[in-house]
Amino acid sequence: MNFDYPILAPSILAANFTRLGDDIQDCLEAGINWIHCDIMDGHFVPNISYGPSIVEDARKFAENAFFDVHLMIEKPDHFIEEFADAGSDLLTVHYEACPHLHRTIQNIKQQGCMAGVAINPGTSTQLLQPILEYVDLVLIMSVNPGFGGQSFIESSHKKIKSLAALRNEMQLNFLIEVDGGVSVNNISQLSANGVDVLVAGSSVFKADNRRNRIQELIKLAKTGNKTII
Ligand code: DX5
Ligand code: ZN
Repeated sequence: MNFDYPILAPSILAANFTRLGDDIQDCLEAGINWIHCDIMDGHFVPNISYGPSIVEDARKFAENAFFDVHLMIEKPDHFIEEFADAGSDLLTVHYEACPHLHRTIQNIKQQGCMAGVAINPGTSTQLLQPILEYVDLVLIMSVNPGFGGQSFIESSHKKIKSLAALRNEMQLNFLIEVDGGVSVNNISQLSANGVDVLVAGSSVFKADNRRNRIQELIKLAKTGNKTII
């Protein structure tokens, strides 16, 4: 799939699961083609969200969308095949949950999915250097993982800029994704600093007018990547 970066990626964690299809349809009609799915196991993060069956149902409902599955779980290797079979296009694992990260990234690719690595706010981008040439995407957590609706951690801007610099220095082309507390107040700066995929949960699904909010966020993201901050 060719994408017109930067991309707004709604996180369905913030959707109303009694009307998940309608909430996804709202996004598709507003021009969204990338869906972020937050999988939480209650161990790696202090919350439980949903499993492969929801991803499978959502994938069948939005068959042309790109499914970006963020595994906030311990021992992700045990679930790679199941989430790949559910229809994930991208599987992102946490650096902090993978003692054999290189092998895990290989396992994801063997399942035919794109491979991403995520780091928590307390983890340095420098630690990713050995794996960067093998991944398709790096996810910078801009909140402590586990819940939607949290405040953006401002030091994430510096982290994103240092990762974008590392990407240039190493002449790599992995995507940079930011996740947590993305809103109309920070999305322009985030895309100006090099973010390609902007995850937004509550700022999309809790908005009074979802379509307008999505289009506002997309417009702000596109303007951001024209100015250097
Ligand atoms: C948090 C998740 C995020 C979260 C984003 O652990 O990874 O994707 O759902 O939600 P907001 O945009 O509300 O911070
Ligand atoms: Zn996420």
